[in-house]
Amino acid sequence: MNAPYNPGLLEHLQLRYAQGPVKMLIGGDWVEAASGETFETLNPSTGKLLANVAAAGDADIDRAVAAARAAFEGPWSKVKPDERTRLLLKLADLIEANAEELALLETLDVGRPIQFSRMIDVQGAIGQLRYNAGWASKIAGETAEISAPGEWFSYVLREPVGVCAQIVPWNFPMVMAVGKLAPALAAGCTVVLKPAEQTPLSTLRLGELILEAGFPAGVVNIVSGLGRTAGAALASHPGINKISFTGSTVTGKAIIEASKSNFARVQLELGGKSPTYIFADADLSKAIPAAAMGIFFNAGQVCAAGSRLFVHEKVADQVLEGVANMARGMKVGQTLDASTMIGPLVSATQLERVTGYIQSGRDEGASVLVGGEAISGEGYEGGYFVQPTVLLETKPDMRVRKEEIFGPVLCAMRFGDDDDVDALAGRGNETEFGLSASIYTSNITTAHKLARRLKAGTIRINGSGGVDPALPLGGFKASGWGRENGKAGIEAYTELKAVSVAL
Ligand code: NAI
Ligand code: MG
Repeated sequence: MNAPYNPGLLEHLQLRYAQGPVKMLIGGDWVEAASGETFETLNPSTGKLLANVAAAGDADIDRAVAAARAAFEGPWSKVKPDERTRLLLKLADLIEANAEELALLETLDVGRPIQFSRMIDVQGAIGQLRYNAGWASKIAGETAEISAPGEWFSYVLREPVGVCAQIVPWNFPMVMAVGKLAPALAAGCTVVLKPAEQTPLSTLRLGELILEAGFPAGVVNIVSGLGRTAGAALASHPGINKISFTGSTVTGKAIIEASKSNFARVQLELGGKSPTYIFADADLSKAIPAAAMGIFFNAGQVCAAGSRLFVHEKVADQVLEGVANMARGMKVGQTLDASTMIGPLVSATQLERVTGYIQSGRDEGASVLVGGEAISGEGYEGGYFVQPTVLLETKPDMRVRKEEIFGPVLCAMRFGDDDDVDALAGRGNETEFGLSASIYTSNITTAHKLARRLKAGTIRINGSGGVDPALPLGGFKASGWGRENGKAGIEAYTELKAVSVAL
């Protein structure tokens, strides 16, 4: 994962994107927007142009939804489950064969250090496909005995929900696109997928691999475009049956609003303000790096980032010093450098947002233990870099404590022996979010009691890690509706139909 990048591959990509706007995939064809409009995607490490990309409008969304509908009612409905498995496994192999190119694309477009693009984006996408491929032949209905007079045979069919709109954010474009596509395709649905305008390139390249794998035309359509135009048109389109969205809570509300017009089934994975707890009896050699990476990894642009740390006062000085030392020691820099740990934020807008939050924390009385500034100067020209930051002396009603910052900014708080598990859970639950939580303690009773009391969709005890395709992913409260991944994630792409036969 730490190998140097391949300069030949970089040159190949630069040449390719110099040839003209990247087209989008509708009905098996690579097309420009009907309007001819395009938008720019930038390299966040330098702020420079990477590529121009087709900007879908209403007419393109109409065509994409029509293509997905035609494929759903037509050829795709005749493809047997074992063939869907084969296609998904084929796509996984093609991603593996093109791993380095896809990792490089993610690094250039998102601003993710290359070692993490390889590990998270490429390996994560392959894992999603291989996990979900097996489900295609394991989706099953059931029979039921009903109580009506007479003799009946009743059964419940589990059918694909239909044409699915999938809207993906910019922080993990490829693995999230694949994480949405794989269960939908395994279940027999067809898809219109919109990547984020900041990061469309890996998803569009994925579209080529989808055609190469042999998926019939129209099964997967990839429409690049802006959220307020293409995204809004897709979410409110009368031709979709389901929408799966990952992104901000504000846009999540717009998706719910849009679903009032088309009754699309809505699945939302929104933001978080996730707590990490470190008790006095924790293994600090694990807990300290986990607390640091939980917020600094990917420059904090992670929905499940551990942005609030609750640490027992007996170990607080040692933990905070350890986290601050990691913040000072981690290499923040150019993403093609294999030793870089933290890259830039994705855009100037996000840099402004994150530094604005740090300033608001200062204004409201927080102190800065480490970091706190944007980074500029030699090696950082034009990029959107910010220092890993720890804030102390925050209060529950401050914006930095309540709102999702989506940057490498940790609020650290102490607790004492007087705080029992109910009080600690209450502090963890005090925001509107409920996506995830981490607990470090050697007391299993404390760990399990706290896990039950926390309103969060994912809880890790004494270990850190990312998304696993086998585990349901999603949130309580404002962190979203429904779950992705696991059996629940597959079933979310199905509709039930009860059939009763009087015998
Ligand atoms: P966003 O939620 O607006 O963007 C996510 C996706 O939604 C993009 O593909 C965008 O084009 C699309 N979109 C935007 N407006 C839409 C609309 N009206 N209808 C349909 N689709 C629409 O997020 P944004 O503005 O890029 O980031 C703002 C904040 O959102 C971040 O600072 C962070 O707090 C949060 N966020 C959370 C993510 C997560 O993983 N939970 C991912 C990205 C952002
Ligand atoms: Mg970009």
